[in-house]
Order: sequence, then C-alpha cells, then structure tokens
Amino acid sequence: MAEKISVLVPAHDVEDRIRGMAAEISERYAGEELHIIGILKGSVFFMCELAKYITVPVTLDFMSVSSYGSGTASSGTIKLKKDLDDPIEGKNVIIAEDILDSGRTLKYLIELIKERNPKSLMTVTLLDKPERREYEVDLDMTGFEIPDKFVVGYGLDYDQKYRNLNYIGVLEFTED
Ligand code: PRP
Repeated sequence: MAEKISVLVPAHDVEDRIRGMAAEISERYAGEELHIIGILKGSVFFMCELAKYITVPVTLDFMSVSSYGSGTASSGTIKLKKDLDDPIEGKNVIIAEDILDSGRTLKYLIELIKERNPKSLMTVTLLDKPERREYEVDLDMTGFEIPDKFVVGYGLDYDQKYRNLNYIGVLEFTED
C-alpha cells in the first residue's frame, strides 16, 4: 500500500492562523507572563510557532503521556511518561496540543495541572476534531476544526513520519 497525502490546510493558512492566535493570547495576557506546556511530541511545531509570535514574556516546559487502548471509562488509561521540570503554582499556564480528538489526553492533563494550583489555565490546540469527542473538555482556543480524517503534518504523525510537513495533510492509502 502506498501512502498519499493531500493538502487539507496549506502552510500559509496554518501560519496565519497561529499568528492570529498568538495575537489574541498576547492581548488576553497583556502585562502578565505566560508558561506554555507542550505535550510531546505532536505539539512541538505548533507550540514553537505560537510562542514565537506571543509578545508577553514566555517560559516553556514539556510533558509526555502515553495512552493505552480506547478505554471508555476514564483517564486512568493514560500514563505520565515525562513530568514537568518546574513547578507551575501561581503561573499563567497554557497547555498547547496539536490535536483534540477523543479528549482523553486533554481531560487528564487539565486535571493534573489544576491540582498544582496555577494562577490561570488556558487550553489551546492547533486542530480540533469535534466529531471524535468522547470526553467533555474545556477547550479555550483552536486553530481549525477539521473533519474526521487521518491528518498528518505540523507535528502530527503516521508511524512517527510526516511530523515535519509545514502543512496539514490528509493521509490516504492507495493500492499502487
Ligand atoms: C495525540 C495528540 C494528543 C492526543 C489527542 O498524541 O498529540 O496528545 O493524541 O488524542 P485524544 O484527544 O484522543 O486523547 P499521540 O498519543 O499520538 O502522541 P504524539 O503527540 O507523540 O504523536
């Protein structure tokens, strides 16, 4: 089976939207400082591009989680693989994700972060697939709502490939 990628969101549209999101965030946190938490690995490209255009002071940290199966019950099927390096108490925290799908990962992360008493918490994703939602989560800002297709690029992978594409593409498998 060959892999074929068609463009869903071109590079310049992704970049324009991220700059717009950065402008909104900068306005919302004017006079404050921000601590952006990226969730490895998918969020990295989005997080960096967003941070580059935010005009208030920004610090960065990373977390890594892994999820098991497609459990319906709880976020108990998620395991924390890498915790934050620094405490977040009293900080304005933004969780940056590449995609919100079932909502399981973000629900887990929101609960974990809130327990650590940040000053504020905002959730931001580049992509949102509302049709796939299984868990109710508070998403504050998204770049694009997309249909339920297998997407790659701008951090999103298939078998760890295609994360470095500068656009969002739909991956299809063809016979040739
Ligand atoms: C992806 C994505 C989110 C999660 C979203 O991560 O980066 O963290 O899945 O799905 P959900 O809403 O159904 O929980 P993945 O586990 O593929 O890891 P990666 O970021 O390393 O690609």
